[in-house]
Amino acid sequence: MTIHAQRRAALARQLGPGGIAIIPTAPERPRNRDSDFPYRHDSYFYYLTGFTEPHACLVLDGAGGSTLFCQPKDLEREIWDGYRLGPEAAVAALGVDTALPSGELEARLPALLENRACVWFPFATHEGLAARVEGWLAKVRARVRFGALCPQQQGDLCLLLDEMRLVKDAHEIGLMREAGAISARAHLRAMRRSARMLAAGEDVREYHLEAELLHEFRQSGAQAPAYGSIVAAGANACVLHYRADRAPVRAGELVLIDAACELDGYASDITRTFPANGRFTGPQRDLYDVVLASQEAAIAATRPGARFTDPHDAAVAVLAQGLLDLGILDRSQHASAADVVATRAYFPFYMHRTGHWIGMDVHDCGSYVEPGEQGQASERRDALSGETIIDRPSRILRPGMALTIEPGLYVRPTPGVPEAFHGLGIRIEDDAVVTEDGCELLTRGVPVAADAIEAVMREEAEAA
Ligand code: GLY
Ligand code: MN
Ligand code: MN
Repeated sequence: MTIHAQRRAALARQLGPGGIAIIPTAPERPRNRDSDFPYRHDSYFYYLTGFTEPHACLVLDGAGGSTLFCQPKDLEREIWDGYRLGPEAAVAALGVDTALPSGELEARLPALLENRACVWFPFATHEGLAARVEGWLAKVRARVRFGALCPQQQGDLCLLLDEMRLVKDAHEIGLMREAGAISARAHLRAMRRSARMLAAGEDVREYHLEAELLHEFRQSGAQAPAYGSIVAAGANACVLHYRADRAPVRAGELVLIDAACELDGYASDITRTFPANGRFTGPQRDLYDVVLASQEAAIAATRPGARFTDPHDAAVAVLAQGLLDLGILDRSQHASAADVVATRAYFPFYMHRTGHWIGMDVHDCGSYVEPGEQGQASERRDALSGETIIDRPSRILRPGMALTIEPGLYVRPTPGVPEAFHGLGIRIEDDAVVTEDGCELLTRGVPVAADAIEAVMREEAEAA
């Protein structure tokens, strides 16, 4: 049995005997006129089939029966758009019971839904799917007078698939390890290019560094960046969703790069912050070492049995102390790091979470609440926004769960904050898989300690 057939069987067991599931792949998306955005399959569909062609849909029943709708062979279309597997070859290639041309989907779906108790489909990820399901069910209802039974229940397939996808198997971890290694090499290339060009007195731009990333991704066989690459020179690093653009990369400033590849459907996600010319200034190094220490604390808290929020809490405690030690927060106004945490005084400098699930999607699916404990809700008023927040027990980490660990500090020019820190934005991000006794970092092929970054860049500058 292939890994995809095993996943289909595992899902079928959860659909119940009268259940049937519909999982379409992603649509093609027009960019302008007759040009499309690069095609990316749907992650749920790919998880169950390993099939990357557009215009495909999997139908799976509770007894394990599977029907794939896919593009038919068509010589003319294949001359223009490329090879199609076609339904005839799909049965053997993908291990499905039946494969039919995608053009038959509309006509066949109502019959497949007939006499089923529950129809499952992803509720929130496929625009227009709920309306299409309604249309198919309307056709089943029209046959009730001929004895057909119409499914009375609808279930959100995401709930089942998200739980399956949350715990990665060995095949997935292997791919994520490889994606992480490629992305780490890409970051190294960008660091080296920055040092080399500045040592040679050249005009370095953010796009020069982005070019190094893209080169390494494709050179290594990765299909695409897993998300829009952030290459932020100087104060641009304080814009969390800044994109690689054309700003000059100057000696004496930091560069924040948050970029990583997708390999065979699996994402990686790395951030490194380094001095453009390879030498940290004193204040840069001080702030960097606080962020690195916070990441180390978060990594130590990433282990089975811990809660998803534990790494975040560990990171925030270290950042809060660092903000006081560096005088970015005023000791006369904040009694202790615990006080900084309780009042969320760190928030103007650290406004995002310390991590997220990662897998096929860079921000991968999976509930952040522990399923067996979601009823244990408690309410609190947020210290800053005044919003009422409902806290539910956070997810308990288990081996095979994959998450990023990405603390940062972003110091916009702020009255009362020492000017030496103004405009510094630092984030350090690695990808971790929870193991039996801790976690494995998948992205440490690129150095993270300040001395190690300086050593790599010095070597490159000296060779220039
Ligand atoms: N690159 C997106 C993130 O770090 O979450
Ligand atoms: Mn990132
Ligand atoms: Mn991330």
